[in-house]
Amino acid sequence: MAERLGERDVPQEWDVQHVPAPGETGQTILITGATSGLGAEFARQLAGQGHHLVITGRDPIALVGKAQGLEAQYGVSVDTLTADLATPEGVDVVAARLRSPDQPVTMLVNNAGAGLPTEFHESGAEDERRMLRLLVEAPMLLSHAAIQTFLARRGGRILNVASVAGLIPDGSYGAAKSWAVSFSRWANARYKPEGVTVTALCPGLVRTEFHQRAGIDTSRWPRWTWMDADDVVREGLTAAAEGRSVCVPSRRYRSLMTAARFSPDAVLERLSRTEPKSRRAGA
Ligand SMILES: NC(=O)c1ccc[n+]([C@@H]2O[C@H](COP(=O)([O-])OP(=O)(O)OC[C@H]3O[C@@H](n4cnc5c(N)ncnc54)[C@H](OP(=O)(O)O)[C@@H]3O)[C@@H](O)[C@H]2O)c1
Repeated sequence: MAERLGERDVPQEWDVQHVPAPGETGQTILITGATSGLGAEFARQLAGQGHHLVITGRDPIALVGKAQGLEAQYGVSVDTLTADLATPEGVDVVAARLRSPDQPVTMLVNNAGAGLPTEFHESGAEDERRMLRLLVEAPMLLSHAAIQTFLARRGGRILNVASVAGLIPDGSYGAAKSWAVSFSRWANARYKPEGVTVTALCPGLVRTEFHQRAGIDTSRWPRWTWMDADDVVREGLTAAAEGRSVCVPSRRYRSLMTAARFSPDAVLERLSRTEPKSRRAGA
């Protein structure tokens, strides 16, 4: 259990007056998985609002290219951290930056993620373990580091990119994403009175590189089910600024999730069983 930080532990330079308010420019925001898709869009919108960034990913060349582009376009500083968040070493690198008092991070966006093209029983146990580490262990450890430092500074925000899959029975990916939803709901209630908010962003299908990278065939999903990353990110940032615990972007997905919430468990479980399975593209 996290040790509570007392009044006497708060360094002077982290006085509450130095914690920027939501919407204020010049914060330093750490985004995991910012080389493509939603993470890249978070970086673009937040840099456009005048915030300094720390962006992470596994490919140092892609990261530096992204950072240089954002710095040139928006005049903010963008630092990079190369880290595989499915490994303890990678998580340690990012957690250390969250704890650093130099240019303190005021917001964490736990965004990095990847899926698998196969059902649970078909995938390799090691692939399942890597996915769980990336989707649960990494955001848990980074949230732990962030919440400890944010409490000491009397303020901060965490945005956990979950999924609508975390709100319904939807394979081991959905089970992993349900951790982010449940944790954010509890942590937001627990820490909001102390100035630290935690929000789970639960998008439906978003046009990014996610499915292609995982080798998931998307041809069976109709056009209306797809959203653009810029709309999803805008709704997520608004929800985080308002300190909401859960955000499901778009009216159509909110309606679907409301229907799911009021459906009997047996119906949802039967639907999850009859849902056609994702297959490797072309297979
Ligand atoms: N697209 C959707 O339909 C959708 C829907 C709901 C939720 N989500 C969630 O949204 C988040 C962003 O996904 P996306 O759609 O933007 O996918 P994406 O375009 O594939 O981007 C994923 C990002 O995560 C990083 N990443 C992947 N594996 C990593 C690892 N082991 N260590 C560190 N970074 C890693 C990638 O960077 P590198 O490869 O450069 O390391 C990349 O920047 C994920 O958490 C995903 O589960 C996506």
